Amino acid sequence: MGADEHKSRRLMSLLKKRGYIQPAFELYGGVAGLYDYGPLGGRLRRNVIRKWLNHWIKLGNIVEIDSPTITPEAVLKASGHIGAFNDYASECKSCNSIFRTDHLLEGFHNNPDSLDNTALDKELLNHDIQCPSCNKTDWAPSEPLNLMFSTTIGASKGGRRAFMRPETAQGMFLQYPSIYRHFRGKLPFGAVQIGKGYRNEISPRQGMIRLREFNMAELEYFIDPESNKNYNLQLWDEVLVNLIPDPMGGDSKELSSTINEAVEKGIIRDKTVGWFMIKTYELMSELGINTELIRFRQHEIDEMAHYATDCWDLEIFGCYGWIECVGIANRGCYDLKAHQKVTKSNELKAWRDFEKELEIEKVVCSPIQSIVGPQFKDKSKMITAHLEELNGLEIEFPLTININREQFIIEEHMVEIKKIKSIERGEWFTPHVVEPAFGIDRIIWHILEHSYQEVSKENDEKYTILSLKNNICPIDFSVYPLYEKDGMPEIAHEIIDKIREVNEININYDGSKSIGRRYARGDEIGTPYAITVDHQTLEDKTVTLRERDTQNQTRLSLEELVQFVSKY
Ligand code: ATP
Ligand code: GLY
Repeated sequence: MGADEHKSRRLMSLLKKRGYIQPAFELYGGVAGLYDYGPLGGRLRRNVIRKWLNHWIKLGNIVEIDSPTITPEAVLKASGHIGAFNDYASECKSCNSIFRTDHLLEGFHNNPDSLDNTALDKELLNHDIQCPSCNKTDWAPSEPLNLMFSTTIGASKGGRRAFMRPETAQGMFLQYPSIYRHFRGKLPFGAVQIGKGYRNEISPRQGMIRLREFNMAELEYFIDPESNKNYNLQLWDEVLVNLIPDPMGGDSKELSSTINEAVEKGIIRDKTVGWFMIKTYELMSELGINTELIRFRQHEIDEMAHYATDCWDLEIFGCYGWIECVGIANRGCYDLKAHQKVTKSNELKAWRDFEKELEIEKVVCSPIQSIVGPQFKDKSKMITAHLEELNGLEIEFPLTININREQFIIEEHMVEIKKIKSIERGEWFTPHVVEPAFGIDRIIWHILEHSYQEVSKENDEKYTILSLKNNICPIDFSVYPLYEKDGMPEIAHEIIDKIREVNEININYDGSKSIGRRYARGDEIGTPYAITVDHQTLEDKTVTLRERDTQNQTRLSLEELVQFVSKY
């Protein structure tokens, strides 16, 4: 199944016309990969984000944090993004256009994202791939291009090199000590962050799918890899999901399975990953994604990001084909270890109690205070603490130690090497991390696409409905006076004020054009209910309530209306 360009064009034109989304900077000719959310789109985005946040926060052990989008070079060097965050690009020697090499091979290879540059170049040649701009087949060897936007912090010469963050995840890793303290050191716990991510994509295309600045929502879940993972996956035993496991060199075979079964069979390698897969699937359904158009695809070993040991993409089918919208990765201890190594911080760890206390015999280095005290004076306490951490069997004298950029020489006569018995109650370890990473814009596009319906009327006219879910749609209720006279607008405003008292919902007044046109406009922008004030309202204070999806109309008293709205 390929891209349905016709549908994407019609949907995009509706979204532009109605103020959902549009290419940014259009007055200046536009910039590929940058989009605006308009008056309705802004509200939709906010609703999706609110639902996303509540879904995770209500688990009770997850908090929201926020960190800067401008990130110093050192952080991204440690995280591996400088060096490994690349896509391969091929330049057409004839017209100098540049494309992502794996995108050129779509339809010619099962999974071009998993190939290295030599294999990519070979495939371009074997399939005689033409340049999409000039149709020639003369490609320069593919080259890795780093996707990060660089910038400078501070005035030019003395400035520090920095980048716009390519993912929000590093913010959670760097705030780990504070989150650990917040949860009093009790794993598992998680932190989420919602914000912009930046990637200088080589050839942005497919509208909202491939952006250069986009809305990310990420969750880093810190776990003890050795502790029992008691998620009750049986709760979802009624739900069959489509899985495409890593083919391990063979053909990819899609299967339909419960998550529980896939974890038990070892297809999903980690139970926490399985748990996040089903919770993510649940969320997608609540947001209005058609679950029949969802599948999970496991990354092949060579396709995985530099930090991951297992990764499943949640892909959604739409007019651009199957598109990755969420990546659920087991990042192991990669990131915390990487930052530990560079910063030497001992705060990026967690404490684990042993089941039973252990009696351990150790050889330790014990400073002789009558020598160390006079020799190092006010520094002796710090030096003592440092020496007591060392393994007495591994020390060679004279020993040089560095503390806070100062060097001290320790001679053999200053310490005593002795055997001691100690009781160990637990140990420090580096937690592992499971991360679901959501691309909010891709999800929003598919919510809109899956709720977009073209209904043919009797006279063959096409009629459009956006069946957005309640609480996701930008406008929940619209109030229409049949005419803008005879006191109808005043009653409509009274109703709006009354409903606002009941609930925190978005309610809108619309008095322009015929009532039929207003119903059609409401359906087209996805407003679930229309409330109409007409002549009868003037007599008996009843209104009609019209339902978007069925177009059924019911007459209600104001009290009944208020009751209906409070249950919305
Ligand atoms: P792709 O293979 O499509 O480039 P990716 O594997 O690089 O995506 P991740 O690095 O896993 O994507 O990013 C996490 C999520 O962020 C993705 O699942 C996707 O929804 C979203 N995302 C990534 N790149 C973009 C982009 N350029 N525009 C919009 N959303 C994006
Ligand atoms: N944080 C996941 C990603 O950017 O891929």
